[in-house]
Order: sequence, then C-alpha cells, then structure tokens
Amino acid sequence: MRHLIDFGDITRQEWDELYQQSSAIIDDPDAFVDACHGKVSANLFFEPSTRTNFSFQTAMLRLGGSVFGFADPNSSSMAKGESLKDTIKMVSAYADVIVMRTPWEGAARAASLYSNVPVINAGDGGHMHPTQTMADLTTITRLRGSVDGLSIGLCGDLKYGRTVHSLIKAMEMFSGLKFYLISPRELALPEYMRAFMKEHNMWNVEVTSLEAVIPQLDVLYMTRVQRERFVDPLEYERNKGIYILNRRKLDQARKDLLIMHPLPRVDEIDVDVDDDDRAVYFDQARYGMFARMALLLDLAHQPRENPPPVEIGTEPVCHNPNCITQTEHYLPPLVKKIGDTECCAFCDTPLE
Ligand code: NCD
Repeated sequence: MRHLIDFGDITRQEWDELYQQSSAIIDDPDAFVDACHGKVSANLFFEPSTRTNFSFQTAMLRLGGSVFGFADPNSSSMAKGESLKDTIKMVSAYADVIVMRTPWEGAARAASLYSNVPVINAGDGGHMHPTQTMADLTTITRLRGSVDGLSIGLCGDLKYGRTVHSLIKAMEMFSGLKFYLISPRELALPEYMRAFMKEHNMWNVEVTSLEAVIPQLDVLYMTRVQRERFVDPLEYERNKGIYILNRRKLDQARKDLLIMHPLPRVDEIDVDVDDDDRAVYFDQARYGMFARMALLLDLAHQPRENPPPVEIGTEPVCHNPNCITQTEHYLPPLVKKIGDTECCAFCDTPLE
C-alpha cells in the first residue's frame, strides 16, 4: 500500500497487518515513542475538523515525529488560485507523508497522482473517510474479537455520510455480515454504494424505523445528518433530528450491543446513553488515534518516489458538482467500473 485513499485499495492481508500493528501499539504505546523520529507529516485540512485533525496530530507526536499544516483553507495558497497539483507538489517536497481533508470528492485520489510521498485521505466531501473506518474496525475487533458474522445497523444520513460509505467498502473484506440500512428515504445510500453492495453480494435491508430492527443488532452505528452537504436547506430541515437514540429504545437492544458514532454528535444520541456500558463512541475515538499511529508508522517510512506521468485532461467527464475534476481541469479523465456501470474514478459517481 502506497497511499490510503479508499478502503477498496487495501487487501485483507494489509488490513490484518495494520490491525496487528495498532494492537501492538495499544498494548505498549511506550515502545513506539521514537518510531517516527525525524519524520514530518503535512496535515492539510481544507475543511473544518477537530477530532480527525487532532487524532492525526497526536498520532504523529506520540510516534516522536512532527506535524505542520493548516486547518483553515484560507491560509493555503489555493486561496490565491494555486492548483491542487502545485500545492501537493510543494508540500510533498517538505513532508514525508500528507494527510488531507477536503470538501471536494476525489481530491485525495487526485493528490496521490502528483505526490512524491504517501497521501492519506482524511475525508473527501461526502465520499470516503477510510481512517475513520480504521478506527471503527479496530474498535469492533478489539471489543468483539472479530468483525465476521455481525449484524450491523447503519443509521442516519447514509447519503452524505462518508464514514458509512468507507465502512461498507471495508466490510466487503469480511464474511457473514448483515446490514440494516436505517435512514429516511431522502438520505438513503447513494447509487454507487448500492451498486457496490450488489456487486459484492452484501446482505442488506433498507428500513426507515430504528425501533423495528434494534433487537437484531450487534453493532449500531449512528451518524449525524451532514448539514453542510445539503444543497437544499429544506431537505435538511425535513430530516434533522429524525433518529434519536435514547435509553428507552435501548431497552429492546441486545445486552452486548456496541453503540458507535464517528462523532461529532448533534442530537442523534441522548446524553443519557453515554453511561450505558454499550456506548463505545469515546473509546472508538481513542482507538482511532492508535489506528492512525499504525498507518503513519507504515507510510511515513516509505521512500520518496516520482509518480508516473499522467495524461493531461481538458474538461471534466464527471457531472458530480462536488467532484474535484470540476475545478481542476488538468486532471486525467479516469474512469472505472462498478458492476457494469462506468463511474468517475475520483468520486465514483456514475457517468451519464
Ligand atoms: C466524521 C466526518 O468528518 O465525516 N467525523 C469524523 O471524522 N470523526 C463524521 C461527521 O462529521 O459527522
């Protein structure tokens, strides 16, 4: 693995190795305090973030490495009109690894085409968020022993929730899973994710009621309605506050349920759930830091490499208004297949 852009790029063996490394760090963090001594990470956050940015920063600091970057896009030269390509070329001259979060879908993939050092996708718009998935899988595996065979409820904003998309992609590596996709119809999974589940024969049902399925679940993964991604503010108003998990609803749930949430929470989990033994979302954030340590440890030590030349594009072939190809026209017109459908290789949106 050279970059971590999407869980589709990782094999089961690579995941198992990363998990072993995270586990070794969790069991004895002091043994790793110098493991990235002299290594420098560039954290480019073009979109607001506290936990993911802090998690990556503390991960690098706990390995003895250093971090530079920005958390406000207005402080980068892209605000002056610099292209993403030039920004990445510059930053990869200074850093050993690049961590980036953007509102544009496919931006981390685009950056990886030009970077001399590994790129980590820390969230690209409503598309993917693979390191949150590392946190999620590490939490489930540490607390349940294995991911295989679980019944998993994904609840809330499945349309714009990138953590859900990444998690489903990663779950393809495991077997015997059942997915309960709990959302209002307007916030159901995007077409490319449905096509992915179909292509990989992933068992799933779409439901609108949390109460109806809660007794079946081993894991309940709650998500925030992603207000910043709605084009129509009325659509947000119609759907906000639609699922609220509280103690009463949990009466129907299994005694060993794992209640997870990538955080930040708005109102989808009542604070009275926090003291329930089944609520693991704050542990999940801590596991996330260890998982990121394992990832940085691997990628920050990779040799610098000139990326192979890529074709120069002229105009976007993808019609997703949030796709990185809409603003960076020099990007190559890369296409991939999901099932039988041709899709944009940056943001996965089907091409019309
Ligand atoms: C998530 C994100 O940014 O997508 N947060 C995170 O990384 N922990 C979830 C969210 O913002 O709702």
